Amino acid sequence: MIFKMTVVSALIAVVSSVALADLPTLEKKDRYKVGFAQTESNNPWRIAETKSFKETAKTCNWDLVYTDAAGSAAKQVSDVDSMIAQGVDVIFLPPREERPLLPAVLRAKAQGIPVFLVDRSVDEKVAKPGRDYVTFLGSNFIEQGQIAAKWLIEKTGGKGMILELEGTTGSSPANDRRKGFDDEIAKHPEMKILASQSGDFARDKGRKVTETLLQTYPNANVIYAHNDEMAIGAIQALEAAGKQPGKDVLIVSVDGTRDALQAIIDGKMGVTVESSPFFGPLACSTMKRYANGEKIEHWVRVKDRVFTIDNAAKYIDEAY
Ligand code: AHR
Repeated sequence: MIFKMTVVSALIAVVSSVALADLPTLEKKDRYKVGFAQTESNNPWRIAETKSFKETAKTCNWDLVYTDAAGSAAKQVSDVDSMIAQGVDVIFLPPREERPLLPAVLRAKAQGIPVFLVDRSVDEKVAKPGRDYVTFLGSNFIEQGQIAAKWLIEKTGGKGMILELEGTTGSSPANDRRKGFDDEIAKHPEMKILASQSGDFARDKGRKVTETLLQTYPNANVIYAHNDEMAIGAIQALEAAGKQPGKDVLIVSVDGTRDALQAIIDGKMGVTVESSPFFGPLACSTMKRYANGEKIEHWVRVKDRVFTIDNAAKYIDEAY
């Protein structure tokens, strides 16, 4: 606790020393050197996001400086520092976790490089959009968790023994998808979250965590996964344990990947709340608005759909 407070106080001190300066502006020009510092490439969502940035680089006249932090916040910090050293015009950053990337965001600002957070955010108690970075482009993760919970409550009549597979510890989608979901579930006395554990947004970790949790909680009849990759891992673990996903255990999740839509069609998954990875075009238009001197809203919100058996077949061909 004391250590946590010290880290937060230290971050606040660093932020306060840079916060007074205005946000860097962006010159209007035909071609930009754009940094995109990806977190990792171990799932279809990340691969689709990177593809979207690479395709946009061609249509939006960017010289793209692309890095992959391979699942390490420390590497992502050094990737951002290297982009600063290379003199990029702007940086698009999905901070792997909410806090470790804060100093790098501030160093970019101090060097006159506007930062746009994309798909994940930083701790807003410490760094603020419109002051420390331009804006956050992304979904409402709390709402995604709420939608998943409400679907489940309606489907089960408010009864269920739930295992929760959390995303990367300390990341904004894991924090917010948990909050949105858990707060809704807490309103229903006959629903219980038996255990909640991180599977790091990865399929195999989701499988292993589910395997272990099923041994301790064989009475679980719902799995809420913070993303589709972990949900697919959970389906594999359930089948290996001789249980029928979708019948013995209901699965609710977030993202909208092709595998998840197929699992819905196959009756193995109940719902996935969309979280779109296609940020390239939005990044291009927001950056142009900023270069034109427009005041950018603090949160450029992405609207998400909900996929169930009613529409999964209709959308599977556009899924990734
Ligand atoms: O930040 C968005 C999340 O990160 C997606 O839900 C997940 O699949 C990805 O790794």
